[in-house]
Amino acid sequence: MGVAEKEILPLNSVSVRATATEHHRRKAAFSFLKFFCTRLLPAYLFVYYAFGYSAKYILCRVSYLHHPRRYCTCDNICDTGVITTLPTHYTLPSGDQIPAVALGVWQASKGEVGQAVEAALKSGYKHIDGAWRYANEAEVGQAIKNSGVPREELWLTSKLWNSFHAPEDVESALDDTLNNLGTDYLDLYIIHWPIAFKKDSTELDEALTADPYPTWKKLEEMVDKGKVRNIGISNFNIPRVKNLTANPLKYQPAVNQVELNYWNPQPELLEWSKEHGILLEAYSPLGSNTQVKDTLAIPEVREIARELGITPAQVIISWHVQRGTVVLPKSVTPSRVEENYHVYPLPDNLFRILEKKATAHPPQRVVNPSKAYNLSFDIFDDYPY
Ligand SMILES: NC(=O)c1ccc[n+]([C@@H]2O[C@H](COP(=O)([O-])OP(=O)(O)OC[C@H]3O[C@@H](n4cnc5c(N)ncnc54)[C@H](OP(=O)(O)O)[C@@H]3O)[C@@H](O)[C@H]2O)c1
Repeated sequence: MGVAEKEILPLNSVSVRATATEHHRRKAAFSFLKFFCTRLLPAYLFVYYAFGYSAKYILCRVSYLHHPRRYCTCDNICDTGVITTLPTHYTLPSGDQIPAVALGVWQASKGEVGQAVEAALKSGYKHIDGAWRYANEAEVGQAIKNSGVPREELWLTSKLWNSFHAPEDVESALDDTLNNLGTDYLDLYIIHWPIAFKKDSTELDEALTADPYPTWKKLEEMVDKGKVRNIGISNFNIPRVKNLTANPLKYQPAVNQVELNYWNPQPELLEWSKEHGILLEAYSPLGSNTQVKDTLAIPEVREIARELGITPAQVIISWHVQRGTVVLPKSVTPSRVEENYHVYPLPDNLFRILEKKATAHPPQRVVNPSKAYNLSFDIFDDYPY
């Protein structure tokens, strides 16, 4: 048989079957791909977006509007961007988790602070914000003991008073606080004011006020000794923070506790602190005892409260957490203590309304002891003085 004849011979039956099978396989794959792209995928996307998404959205809205409290236990139910969730804790540079809501105990007098702390611990608070200067630490410590809540479940903050900034005075001041509270460590110890007084006086120590680094180094030593787990500052404006952090710090300030409320919301400080990894703690969050009534009567606050079925105080406290700060409401009234603990995510549009309203008026501080300290300057440098 010649070469030409070989070339025109039909293929044998096995190779014909193999080619046919291969052809069918390709055809089937192609048909499936076509079906997937033109029918299945569009149908899936249609069903997901037309029914799944909107059903989830409707459920989310309905359950939120009718049962905001129940909704809040359903973490991340809604990814529609309408409602966010609130953090229960923030992580500090040490890795410790600080609870977002604390009971503040300034101006909680002896005889009432203990029952307020006990009420708070019963309601679920784990974080108490105190200070040596509040002169009620022993009663706070006793209430903690009475509650039976294990120490390791609690977050205790105290503050170094102005008269103890000299490095040689820091440890004994801290020991006094530890002794009062009946504990051998604090979760957070902060410099109460960026103002140092000379020992046993209210006379300004100019050197330690201008340069708080020696005080800070002593606080770092307290961390290394295990008496304190985290250290921070309070009432420091941005230049004062920079003045401290320009030093070769071993531990950066974990928090800056400052006045934050509807009247003085400090959006620039908030943004700057977030950029620099310093958590803000909102003190006088309701406007303190002098402004609380006005705060809770703000029409927008009342309207949001009505819409969400929560109280005006809860709107304000939730707003603080949603801004990304720890919040320290103070109350010695057990029902308010309980009320203040429950925060709810505000829908974005309502959050924005409140944020816009709070930042639209000139800031007005509730707490400024510059005159009471006989200073020739304003501690915050933010007003003509
Ligand atoms: N680092 C600092 O220099 C500094 C300065 C100020 C404050 N702080 C901290 O921040 C904490 C809170 O600040 P603050 O005490 O000035 O003010 P706040 O918490 O803004 O307001 C406390 C006032 O609001 C009332 N209140 C609380 N909850 C309420 C509610 N649900 N409904 C109606 N009224 C309510 C309280 O009354 P009752 O107690 O009578 O219920 C009290 O009169 C302090 O306790 C302290 O821990 C720190």
